[in-house]
Amino acid sequence: MEIIIKKDALSGSHAAARVVARLVCEKPTAVIGLATGSTPLMLYKQLIHLHKEEGLDFSKVTTFNLDEYIGLPADHEQSYRRFMNENLFSQINIKMGNTHVPDGMAKDVPASCAAYEQAIANAGGIDLQVLGIGSDGHVGFNEPTSSFASRTRIKTLTKQTVADNARFFGGDESKVPHHCITMGIGTIMDARMNILLAFGANKAEAVAATVEGPVASIMPSSILQHHPSAKLFIDEAAATQLKLADYYRWVYDGKPDWQKDA
Ligand code: PGA
Repeated sequence: MEIIIKKDALSGSHAAARVVARLVCEKPTAVIGLATGSTPLMLYKQLIHLHKEEGLDFSKVTTFNLDEYIGLPADHEQSYRRFMNENLFSQINIKMGNTHVPDGMAKDVPASCAAYEQAIANAGGIDLQVLGIGSDGHVGFNEPTSSFASRTRIKTLTKQTVADNARFFGGDESKVPHHCITMGIGTIMDARMNILLAFGANKAEAVAATVEGPVASIMPSSILQHHPSAKLFIDEAAATQLKLADYYRWVYDGKPDWQKDA
């Protein structure tokens, strides 16, 4: 695991955007896994900037989002499909037909989940997966004790996640759906590269457990210790509980320039 500590969320997001941009330049047909929530917003803003100002071309890129709430239609203001359309897809030259978000209104959820997995496989697998992290260590909506072998499926959110996400629903926890469809941990681990972004003091505990704690399903993100190519982009506030923070800074500062954003 590579830990990249930047002074703030903006510089961490820009460093992560360079990794995504490099992939898209090197492989125009890249398959990218995307995340929602507040964390990746600055990353998406920077990708839009790179598209508009530097011609970063998404016309052949395919995307798969991690998760979606069950029961929210695509045009609901808190659906993750709508979040992606508004915050990224409508502002770059990606073909909407190449973007995928689990269907929160699927009548047959298991069949829809199996089809999602098949679509990822048909696209050749995910080259790079963008991840946020919940305060409870979830990645996607894989809540604590999710199986490390899990694939795309229905999950029930924890009360902690419902409380964390109530801010998007006017602070009203009763409006937050309790069920979701999420890629599994196994799906995420199949991505050829994972980049996890975490900013702010409320993520410090989860970041420390992810990087330096035992690998255990009670902290789903800790499985990334087993991933051959996982990078964490974090800010100083999210790094405060890392025992080896100075070592991670030393490693990063000592890298040759060409490797820094690789
Ligand atoms: P956040 O959510 O980016 O809104 O903090 C992260 C997550 O729940 O994965």
